[in-house]
Amino acid sequence: MKFFLDTADLKEIEKAAATGLLDGVTTNPSLVAKTGMKFEQLIVRICELVDGPISAEVISTNAPGMIDEGRKLAAIHKNVVIKLPLTQEGLKACKTLSFEGKRTNVTLCFTPLQALMAAKAGATYISPFVGRLDDIGQDGMDLIQDIRTIYKNYGYKTEILVASVRHLEHLLTAAKMGADVATIPYKVFEQTLAHPLTESGLARFLKDWETSQKA
Ligand code: G3P
Repeated sequence: MKFFLDTADLKEIEKAAATGLLDGVTTNPSLVAKTGMKFEQLIVRICELVDGPISAEVISTNAPGMIDEGRKLAAIHKNVVIKLPLTQEGLKACKTLSFEGKRTNVTLCFTPLQALMAAKAGATYISPFVGRLDDIGQDGMDLIQDIRTIYKNYGYKTEILVASVRHLEHLLTAAKMGADVATIPYKVFEQTLAHPLTESGLARFLKDWETSQKA
C-alpha cells in the first residue's frame, strides 16, 4: 500500500520524506490556506521534497475553468496530479484531462456509484472520505470495500486512495481491504511506527548491553 501525506505543511512533509517511506502528498484548499503560502510556490516546494504524485486541487466550479487550471497545475511539475471535485463538471473535466494523458485525483467521494462514475471518467485516483462518513454515523470503510468490489468486477485501473483518515484503525482496515493508497495526516504517519513495547524493549536491550559490556 502506498502512503501519501495529507498535508500542505512543508515541515511535516520534510520529516516524513526523510524516512524514505513517503510515496506522495495530497493537498486541498483548506490545507493550503493554513500555510499562508502562495499555491504555486507551495506546490513547487512540495515537488522538490517528494518524488511522487502530488495532488493539487482546482478551485473552479465549471469544467472549462477546471480544465484550464488543471493544465496550468500539471505544467508546474511532472509529478503534479490534478485534483478535481466529484461533481458533474468535475467529471467532465476529468474525462478531458485524462484523454490528454494527465493524471487526476477525483475527490470528495462519498458513495460507491460516485466512484464508479469517476472510474468511467478515467480518474487515476478516487478519494473516498472515510472519516467524514464516520462523522455522520456511517461506516466509512464499507465504502472502500464496495469500491474495491465494483472496480474489480469491471477491471477499472483507477486507484483507491483512502482519504479523510483519522486513526490507525482506518489505515489497518484499508490495508486489509487492499486499498491502493492511504493519504494520512502526519500524526497518523508517526503513529504507524510507534509502539510502547518497541520503546521499552529497546531501552531494555541497550541497558542489558551496557551492563554486560562493562563487566
Ligand atoms: O484527504 C481529505 C482530507 O484532507 C479530509 O480530511 O479530516 O478534513 O475529513 P478531514
